[in-house]
Amino acid sequence: MKTNLPLDADRLWADVMALADITDPARPYTRRSFTALFLEGRAWLARRFAEAGLMTRIDAAGNLIGRIEGTDPALGVIAIGSHSDTVPSGGRFDGIAGVAAGLEIVRALRDAGMRLAHTIEIVDFLAEEPSEYGLSCVGSRGMTGALDESMLALTESGGETLRDALRRVGGTPDELDRAKRDDVRAFLELHIEQGIVLESRSLDVGIVTSIVGIRRIEIVFEGEADHAGTTPMSLRRDALVAAADTVKSIRRIAERLAAEGPDYFVATVGILAVDPSASNIVPGRCRLIVDIRTTDPVLTARFADAIDRESTAHAHAARVARASFRTLSDGPPVACDAGLRDALRLGARDLGLGQMDLPSGAGHDAAFMSRICPSAMVFVPCLKGKSHTPKEWADREAIAAGAAVIYQAVKTLDRSLPQIRSQGAS
Ligand code: GLV
Ligand code: MN
Ligand code: MN
Repeated sequence: MKTNLPLDADRLWADVMALADITDPARPYTRRSFTALFLEGRAWLARRFAEAGLMTRIDAAGNLIGRIEGTDPALGVIAIGSHSDTVPSGGRFDGIAGVAAGLEIVRALRDAGMRLAHTIEIVDFLAEEPSEYGLSCVGSRGMTGALDESMLALTESGGETLRDALRRVGGTPDELDRAKRDDVRAFLELHIEQGIVLESRSLDVGIVTSIVGIRRIEIVFEGEADHAGTTPMSLRRDALVAAADTVKSIRRIAERLAAEGPDYFVATVGILAVDPSASNIVPGRCRLIVDIRTTDPVLTARFADAIDRESTAHAHAARVARASFRTLSDGPPVACDAGLRDALRLGARDLGLGQMDLPSGAGHDAAFMSRICPSAMVFVPCLKGKSHTPKEWADREAIAAGAAVIYQAVKTLDRSLPQIRSQGAS
């Protein structure tokens, strides 16, 4: 493992660990977006940004942004970032490592006495993980013009709208256009791989080629809540029975599409809410969320049509209504920018790191950023590929190596981006 990296691995590690400590103690590591703990984490981050000499602000879409002006502000911005929110009982590294890496890169540049021509921004995107409002990547959608009125109207179980929640964390939903950017020339994100490829090949970094498309569909079945002891089987209208049959259909059809190949395909039901959820009541209502991921959107459409048909049939068989079948969000797969990947590859080579190209099966803010600027990602290995669990682990040196690759790439891009732009203009 490399030790002579151009940044301070211990300082970077200390930030990751300090942020991880800001967790719900009963459910490490939990810092859900929009909660008091999330705001505590952000206040801590904002202090660290300010200590590093960054001008700090929250944009209209609720992103925390630290900015250091370049010597030639007309060149625009190179942005680096990820997210500080976690899934419930998540890990210490997913998202956080990418934000802390950006901060360390700025400090390392300053320590080396280097001031870049481009302005640098470090972004902690709001709510990258699916939030209680049913939407993920809230901040990066906002920054790229992909957060619409119907999304702002989504509510959590207590009835609060995403619009109100966004206001509560410092965003300005009535002026969302102000979050949309046209001055970002490149976006780079470090992330743990969340898979076993790098670890199994003993490689230091992965240069991400593409990010899967993700569609999320909400299905609601409505039957009738009834006494579990006195309602004969023949008279029941059990919403959970229709939901359970639908989960089995989802599994079966997803397995078939995955086996067809060559495209990647997975589908998951991670939320199943039974109402009223009591041992002696026949379930009256059941809501489930299907998370569908693929490298080929045609497969998503085929899958959604099949689930639409089968869930209708299951509702009919269980004598319940299928009250809702609606798409909550739908993002296409995206390719990472070839020029930025070259800069990252060069950076890894110059540092003597082992590298490979690989696709991402996880969603990332970089997928949205690619709508407004060239975007690319660096993956670092994580233990046994585990993520979205407290068992998630990445080594100090692994994170530092990934951050150093971005550090090198930022220096390269600071020189090469203006040339690329001027060639494009001529
Ligand atoms: C983000 O963690 C995702 O859902 O892939
Ligand atoms: Mn995640
Ligand atoms: Mn993440």
